Amino acid sequence: MPDSFDVIVIGAGPGGYVCAIRAAQLGMKVACVEKRETLGGTCLNIGCIPSKALLQSSELFEEATHKFKDHGIGLAGVTLDLARMQARKGEVVTANVRGVEFLFRKNKVTWLKGEGRILAPGRVAVNGEEYETKHIVIATGSESIPLPGVEVDERVIVTSTGGLELDRVPERLVVIGGGYIGLELGSVWRRLGAQVTVVEFLDRIVPGMDGEVGKAFERILAKQGMKFRLKTKVTGARKGNEGVTLTLEPAEGGAAEEITADVVLVAIGRRPYVNGLGLDAVGGALDERGRIATNGHYATNVPGIWAIGDCIAGPMLAHKAEDEGVAVAEIIAGKAGHVNYEAIPGVVYTWPEVASVGRTEEQLKAEGIAYKVGKFPFTANGRARAMGDTDGFVKLLADKATDRLLGAHIIGPDAGTLIAELALAIEFGASAEDVGRTSHAHPSLNEAVKEAALAASGQALHI
Ligand code: FAD
Ligand code: NAI
Repeated sequence: MPDSFDVIVIGAGPGGYVCAIRAAQLGMKVACVEKRETLGGTCLNIGCIPSKALLQSSELFEEATHKFKDHGIGLAGVTLDLARMQARKGEVVTANVRGVEFLFRKNKVTWLKGEGRILAPGRVAVNGEEYETKHIVIATGSESIPLPGVEVDERVIVTSTGGLELDRVPERLVVIGGGYIGLELGSVWRRLGAQVTVVEFLDRIVPGMDGEVGKAFERILAKQGMKFRLKTKVTGARKGNEGVTLTLEPAEGGAAEEITADVVLVAIGRRPYVNGLGLDAVGGALDERGRIATNGHYATNVPGIWAIGDCIAGPMLAHKAEDEGVAVAEIIAGKAGHVNYEAIPGVVYTWPEVASVGRTEEQLKAEGIAYKVGKFPFTANGRARAMGDTDGFVKLLADKATDRLLGAHIIGPDAGTLIAELALAIEFGASAEDVGRTSHAHPSLNEAVKEAALAASGQALHI
């Protein structure tokens, strides 16, 4: 008689492990299948957590080498011990993945180690063992999109996985793709001494973000020393003694040229990962972009099989996957699980950080929604001046007729933390005036948020 469960979750990333915990909290007997040696998925092992560890370390290095002197602090002989920096990153990852193991034990979630394969609705095989379950939740995540002609070896031509593991600072790093990964990891290696060139197919970086913020971001990163080749495509790569020679062409066609790099990072997006899952064998449908097709309640077209996280539609973000994990567990338990996709923040953890929630100005224009803009620069914020971090601004978009907040976009110090109050404001259906009339501590960076809210109706005080 095979072991049987109420729910088997396949994949232990932020979507899967959170779903497993929530389902267990709701009284269900739960197993979570993971083929990686450790829990936590892409995010904890090779994504969010190791990248933020290196972003933190490299930012400290840059502060010590370039910023301390502005504060009157002299430091002699600052050195870089990359091996130690990488070892610390490993320790951070280990602490996080062990944390998930602890949470599984605490919530009595069974960890099934190995690759999960769906045999039929209600039947999953792991390492030759079969298990029965009332529900299957697929949370198998995503993988890097390959670029034809630029073959990844994770040594000199790397994805984010190899880009987090370099044991030497490359003299010349070429990043293909000016999105989240390219700009975060490009920043890490630039701060540590690499000359970084970002090759982007479109005419702007971070294409999904508000256009004005994207332009400002590009200017600030260029000021820090990052080079940009926009409207450019890479058509081939050749490895030699000198490094990797890439062939570039204007995106719209034209004369080719070559550039050489010691390391090339391919970061042109990620795609859903469903290899080996057996979804096709049970008739599970994918959408036109290869994502598992689900209805508004995370149900696939096969009864009893659900899907969440990077392998379905929506932004590929850890907190989106987590929120869906909670929602689907609640739906399975007969409750009203729900995710508000209008209020999911996105943050690029460079310095300054870039954060947004809700609609961009371009989206509002395309949707024909009448809006007003409130903007406030960090140069006029006392705390930002005291910190010496005045690059950037807060931009709020509110409905012209009702004043309801529709979007918030911040580029500036700690933007990733500042955005939280605006996600909450949008979630609660707040108006710009609600934010502007809320008391904000002085002197804090959050005052720039309040001032931007006041600016939406022409009432900013400090500009
Ligand atoms: P994943 O985390 O990908 O987990 C899926 C798991 O399923 C994997 O562990 C995989 O081994 C397992 N699996 C797959 N198939 C099977 C199978 N058949 N059987 C058993 N196990 C299987 N997001 C943010 O919000 N903030 C960030 O700062 C951030 N930084 C990132 C940095 C990098 C470099 C990368 C690559 C991504 C980053 N992301 C970030 C995105 C984030 O990692 C993903 O959105 C998130 O991990 C998605 O969670 P998930 O649970 O859907 O899938
Ligand atoms: P991305 O979608 O963020 O950016 C990819 C970029 O590559 C885009 O600007 C795109 O126009 C460009 N591009 C596509 N094809 C190209 C080509 N052939 N040549 C040149 N440029 C090309 O994808 P990225 O950076 O790979 O990250 C994947 C996902 O992982 C992100 O979208 C995000 O969801 C997640 N992530 C989130 C982070 C965060 O929340 N801080 C950090 C890192 C990743």
